[in-house]
Amino acid sequence: QPPQSETLRTPIVAVLGHVDHGKTSLLDKVRGSAVSEGEAGAITQHIGATAVPLETVSSMAGSLVDPDDFDLPGLLFIDTPGHHSFSTLRSRGGALADIAILVVDVNDGFQPQTVEALDILKRTGTPFVVAANKVDTTPGWNPQDGSPIKPSYDGQSDRARQMLDTNLYEIIGQLSDEGLSADLYWRVQNFQKNIGVIPVSALTGEGIPDLLAVLMGLSQRYMKAEMAVDIAGPGAGTVLEVKEERGFGATLDVVLYDGTVREGDTIVVGGTNGPIITEIRALLQPQPLAEIRTEKRFERVDEVKAAAGVKIAAPDLDAAMAGAPVRVVRSRDTDEVIRDVQAELAEIEVNTEEEGVVVKADTLGSLEAMANALKEAEIPILRAEVGDVAPRDVAVAGTAREDEHKVILAFNVDILPNAEDELDHSEVKLFDDDVIYQLIEEYEEFVDERKR
Ligand code: GTP
Ligand code: MG
Repeated sequence: QPPQSETLRTPIVAVLGHVDHGKTSLLDKVRGSAVSEGEAGAITQHIGATAVPLETVSSMAGSLVDPDDFDLPGLLFIDTPGHHSFSTLRSRGGALADIAILVVDVNDGFQPQTVEALDILKRTGTPFVVAANKVDTTPGWNPQDGSPIKPSYDGQSDRARQMLDTNLYEIIGQLSDEGLSADLYWRVQNFQKNIGVIPVSALTGEGIPDLLAVLMGLSQRYMKAEMAVDIAGPGAGTVLEVKEERGFGATLDVVLYDGTVREGDTIVVGGTNGPIITEIRALLQPQPLAEIRTEKRFERVDEVKAAAGVKIAAPDLDAAMAGAPVRVVRSRDTDEVIRDVQAELAEIEVNTEEEGVVVKADTLGSLEAMANALKEAEIPILRAEVGDVAPRDVAVAGTAREDEHKVILAFNVDILPNAEDELDHSEVKLFDDDVIYQLIEEYEEFVDERKR
């Protein structure tokens, strides 16, 4: 029996890419364009996300998006800082994002985090488009603010067009090296088979109408069935970050992908020592115009519906893990929800052995990605945990039998000061990096060198 309140929820769009390739600028431009279209009020800033309703998408995309062709409510964009692991963006059985934008600087092309993002998109089967950003930096570029890319491209000098083409084909070639067939988006017939590359500029807004039109079209065409959820039902989401907030203690930044969450709801959250059961004290959203420094940065809301980003304040959240599931209990049996959360955590549990290396990562998703990469490299794991490197980790790594396993591989985490002291006085070696494959390469080089 289908749920009574089945509604189409907003598709979740992750914006990924290498550091400084323009992810945040792209979203800023989308917000800025909404302001100039007189739609400022329509865009809502969420915790870790920006919601753009269909009407606003349509007014920004002009003739490229006719709102009558769509029944999805709009798009929810999640910005992921390049130095952070967006592998946090996982959900029950797969990727949290329904669709993604892989942002690539047209001049720089593929960089380490581009490749890493691509690996995760491939592994999770997330559909995506490539935004070839910063086209305005092409020498001799004649900017046409906010224009769709085709007329803007046609309006360039032959020389500028050729330079841009060279860069675009470089990116298409790099995608092909990764085993993906890609082309400029207007030549793509089947977006499920071929990756569309959309030339854009976050500075001038050129190509943004195209980007929005393609995202909206892909969501409507291929994802509508998945968007049908019971929006009034108990909420389900993923922790993006665990943050201390003055006056609230440890809070959760959550992306809600199903149902509703209300103040007072009992929730179950994945924590380092098992599921945490607590009651929501407050649901928080950024104040409108959050850029302006205000005394109160947050606004309290009673209820949030999927899809949305929200900050949850509740007692006992210190041990909550980024990347972990959050579930609202509501009228269900608490034990059943706890079992659900445990089952989901078990999905991510890493196989450890009697002998191997110690792994620390910032989120459950990145821990999972590390474990996969280590398995491929045939490197055994003695212990794998989410969290900063602590003295205890040094002690555990020191118990490895083989010297080459007396190491800690730390991905995107801090080294606690007392752990540094501990490392100074032990044979344990620490490797840290914020790109998974580089981290593993560094370790492999160390092992090779020892063998020489
Ligand atoms: P991280 O969050 O650090 O990973 O970076 P990001 O991908 O969010 O990049 P961000 O938007 O912060 O942009 C990095 C720099 O590139 C900034 O100085 C932007 O002004 C600049 N930039 C971004 N997009 C464009 C563009 O389309 N054209 C030009 N000329 N500059 C751009
Ligand atoms: Mg950014």
